[in-house]
Amino acid sequence: MKATVIVGCQFGDEAKGKMVDYFAGGVDAVARFQGGNNAGHTVIVEGKKYVLHFIPSGVVRGLKCVLGNGMVIEPRKLLEEIEMLRGLGIEPDLLIDQKAHVITQEELDKDAKDSKIGTTKKGIGPCYEDKAARTGIRVMDLLDKGMVSDDYYGAGQKLKQYIGDASLALFGMKKVLIEGAQGTMLDIDHGTYPFVTSSHTVAGSACSGLGIGPGTIEKVVGITKAYTTRVGNGPFPTELEGADGEKLREKGKEFGATTGRPRRCGWFDALIVKYAMRINGINELVLTKLDVLDGFDKVKVCVAYEKDGERVEDLPPNLDGWKPVYDELPGWENSKVASYEELPKEARGYIEKIESLVGVKITMLSTGPARDEVLKRP
Ligand code: GDP
Ligand code: IMO
Ligand code: MG
Repeated sequence: MKATVIVGCQFGDEAKGKMVDYFAGGVDAVARFQGGNNAGHTVIVEGKKYVLHFIPSGVVRGLKCVLGNGMVIEPRKLLEEIEMLRGLGIEPDLLIDQKAHVITQEELDKDAKDSKIGTTKKGIGPCYEDKAARTGIRVMDLLDKGMVSDDYYGAGQKLKQYIGDASLALFGMKKVLIEGAQGTMLDIDHGTYPFVTSSHTVAGSACSGLGIGPGTIEKVVGITKAYTTRVGNGPFPTELEGADGEKLREKGKEFGATTGRPRRCGWFDALIVKYAMRINGINELVLTKLDVLDGFDKVKVCVAYEKDGERVEDLPPNLDGWKPVYDELPGWENSKVASYEELPKEARGYIEKIESLVGVKITMLSTGPARDEVLKRP
């Protein structure tokens, strides 16, 4: 089996869902390896909008969708998602790994009290806590009346047909696409701890979260927005609080797909994406939402941080107090064109600038939410 891993390079919501749908043509399965319904992945095809929380975005193409052992699953919410898809005319073909952990009502109640991190309140953190404490409930336990509430047992019976061994199934396949959730800066070790999620979001985690070996990973594709957004609390050096931030939020429709919260917006931070490139071993970058920058007179890119007279060009371990140093570039009017060559030269200049700062080739651009709004780099 050979796999391509898709990961977010920033704080989540980089348009992973759209790009997973784009890349999914021709694979045997699309698999998630971590997180749960804290994720909100949007796919828009022929005017129909699908917002997915547990189920990999490959479901829109009718592909086999694997929910790996590294995930945390609220069975009632997963059933709601299956019903939502049926309502949109899709019968999902799922495989839920028996070793994935179950988000319990107690864990949901605990997460509801969070105010420090600004979590999605889906019980994600408390569920991973119980997993690490070795007191968690697993998907296989849903099938045991003595292990769970009647409510969960009932949900387990409805999910029974999908429950199995993901590692074994993947081992027998040829080509698999792996869908990361959240982003590198929300990884529990590599992100802005403690303002992070409770799982490893980075590409290396795909192996343990699915029960596959490192040798199966053929390629890692990083998804990055042409600017930066963050939902929830925590440091964000390039955050814009004035009119430019508002303009990015309005034009980019930057409101959370899971919680509806307004996303904090700011300029592109090359230190973050360069770091993501290293931590994930990214081979190719996709730059999304380029169209949102259309119509700005000037666009800025953060090329370094400064604090107390010190200047750094690699991401420091703690982002608190660092001020962004910007390069200013000329803006452009319209990136919604039919080919890369037709992009305004200023937009191409912006892409090349990012590429040279991050040190990875940008192979593709996204210039709108629909499946076909992509430009391949020659
Ligand atoms: P994910 O969590 O990484 O899958 O991203 P989300 O789905 O949470 O957020 C991305 C949002 O941007 C969704 O509403 C997409 O429909 C939308 N989107 C994706 N690509 C583009 C793009 O290139 N341009 C614009 N304007 N919107 C996009
Ligand atoms: P996708 O997959 C953006 C953020 C929350 C909060 C922190 C911890 O759509 O990119 P959690 O509920 O995970 O304990 O919250 O992480 N967060 C996300 N932000 N996109 C996501 O997922 C996120 N999933 C969690 O806002 O700051
Ligand atoms: Mg999202």
